Amino acid sequence: MLDTLGDMRRTHHCCALTGADMGKAVVLTGWVQRRRDHGGVIFVDLRDKEGITQVVFNPDHNAEVHAKAHDIRGEYVLGVRGTVSRRPEGMRNPKLATGEIEVMVDELKVLNDAQTPPFLIEDSVEVSESVRLKYRHLDLRRPQLQRNIILRHRVGAAVRQYLNANGFLDIETPVLTASTPEGARDYLVPSRVNPGRFYALPQSPQLFKQMLMISGFERYYQIVRCFRDEDLRAERQPEFTQIDMEMSFVGEADVMAVAEGLMAAVFKEALGSEIPVPFPKMPYHEAMDRYGLDKPDTRFGLELKDVSDIVKSSGFKVFASVVEKGGIVKALNAKGCIGFSRKEIDDLTELVAVYRAKGLAWIKVKEDEWQSPIAKFFTEAEKADLARRLDMAPGDLIFFVADHPKITNEALGHLRNHLGRRLGLIDENRFNFLWVTEFPMLEYDEGEKRYQALHHPFTAPFEEDYEKLEKDPLSVRSRAYDLVLNGSEVGGGSIRIHQRSVQNKVFEALGISQDSAEKKFGFLLKALDSGAPPHGGIAFGMDRLMMILCNQPSIRDVIAFPKTQKAACLLTDAPSEVTVAQLEELSLRLRKTAAVPNKE
Ligand code: AMO
Ligand code: AMP
Repeated sequence: MLDTLGDMRRTHHCCALTGADMGKAVVLTGWVQRRRDHGGVIFVDLRDKEGITQVVFNPDHNAEVHAKAHDIRGEYVLGVRGTVSRRPEGMRNPKLATGEIEVMVDELKVLNDAQTPPFLIEDSVEVSESVRLKYRHLDLRRPQLQRNIILRHRVGAAVRQYLNANGFLDIETPVLTASTPEGARDYLVPSRVNPGRFYALPQSPQLFKQMLMISGFERYYQIVRCFRDEDLRAERQPEFTQIDMEMSFVGEADVMAVAEGLMAAVFKEALGSEIPVPFPKMPYHEAMDRYGLDKPDTRFGLELKDVSDIVKSSGFKVFASVVEKGGIVKALNAKGCIGFSRKEIDDLTELVAVYRAKGLAWIKVKEDEWQSPIAKFFTEAEKADLARRLDMAPGDLIFFVADHPKITNEALGHLRNHLGRRLGLIDENRFNFLWVTEFPMLEYDEGEKRYQALHHPFTAPFEEDYEKLEKDPLSVRSRAYDLVLNGSEVGGGSIRIHQRSVQNKVFEALGISQDSAEKKFGFLLKALDSGAPPHGGIAFGMDRLMMILCNQPSIRDVIAFPKTQKAACLLTDAPSEVTVAQLEELSLRLRKTAAVPNKE
């Protein structure tokens, strides 16, 4: 049988050869990173997934092979046979693992040619992300992306190894399924054989993993794709991967201990570092109070302070009226930032406006006075109280937001993160894990005028708060926990409701009628009635975790084939139009048909 490679079988990867291999006969295969013609001698940097080796075509060494090398261009695929030799003095490259040697080529096989790529295959290359995504197969050749994807594989393997060793079973759950609500919109798939009916792609395997506990498997895991049709932000993808797990006969502490062991195993594998366990815990209300967000970055201070009590009867009507209407006024002290210009403060005001804050009041603390548009409204006593609460010292710049608690916290929480980064307060080498606990069970959705589950409707309420579900639902705490790492929510889970009566009560509180609950989740209710063990679990966002482990600014850089902010795949052009025939087969008709082609 003919075989392009023939006897050109790789003996080493392009990272492997060093001074110790001098004189060895070797075969390397890979891509042409760069070709340089130095007065007759041709140098090629040959690249494979492990590294780069310089190979040399010297007319004095082998004229025939040298002549062939003239046609080589960037990204050609080569096989070379040659001898390892020491690079001449002055030509060595200490930055390269193979920088001491080169391979003198005796035989060259051009395994394939290549079009000139639209960008250089180098980490430092400046090219727009849309071009990178369109030519993802080339982008993925860049060393950084290769490292990210390879590390992702290793992390996946470490996860499996840890969970397998701890008695977890890897069980697959359906992708064509019924809606599993996690707060986003569903992706729907029409059923051809059941006209007018649709599958939903799972937002998570939540209900199936609970069913598996009811079926008696006790410990389940899956590295699983989840689908959420939501507005995309930097940390989100419409399809993303969870490390999903569930356990029977457990409480919070048991799930947390397994999760901490798993994170320790992952960090050991990925970064070779020991992370201290157990992780600290912080109740939700404390996180909101001190940091304004339920995923606080605890690597730096700059904590928020509630000053509502001090300013509520002040002459600054904006503050006073916000407090009177049940809102709050909070502040943070940007130490030493008195030098911020008017323009800089205006930019920060725009930043908080994104979170719907109506303004950003400020005070510059000078030696003997305050410079501020609002200083004149405060009495000496109020000023003294503010100075004490906010630990003011000359040189400080204080920011205030007054609004509904939700807006005040969110706006200042994000301002805090922004200032933390900008002022260099964050130690980038630290990994601060934090469990956020005691979430409220429900929140009130002003738009929809009804309660919604903060986590999902299958999360158990605190047993001691159970009685308050009817009378004072907003005060009921849930047995949910989020795992936060450096200000990013990398995991979330809960102890579940395992009794039907409780699940009914929670559906009721959520305004889900018995009828509708039966229709949507009848199978779960029935299963809860069939001897459901107490159970709970957690899911980690694998992509977000990889972003942090690979130290990448974008979630797209740790996913082989990611989607854009508009949920498009630029490589394959998905989503794409379909033919009228395909629609007809699915019993569908588009409202706007103009764009649909009649033929393939
Ligand atoms: P949750 O909705 O909190 O919980 O999801 C778990 C984790 O998944 C990650 N994540 C995402 N990552 C990328 N893109 C997205 N669009 C996205 N959405 C979520 C986050 C999040 O912490 N079934 C429950 C888990 C449980 O209760 O066991 C669930 O899905 O890192
Ligand atoms: P004004 O009296 O509206 O000119 O506002 C005086 C200062 O208070 C300006 O710096 C505004 O940005 C700020 N401000 C206005 N409304 C709010 C608010 N809700 N929270 C915080 N600061 C505000």
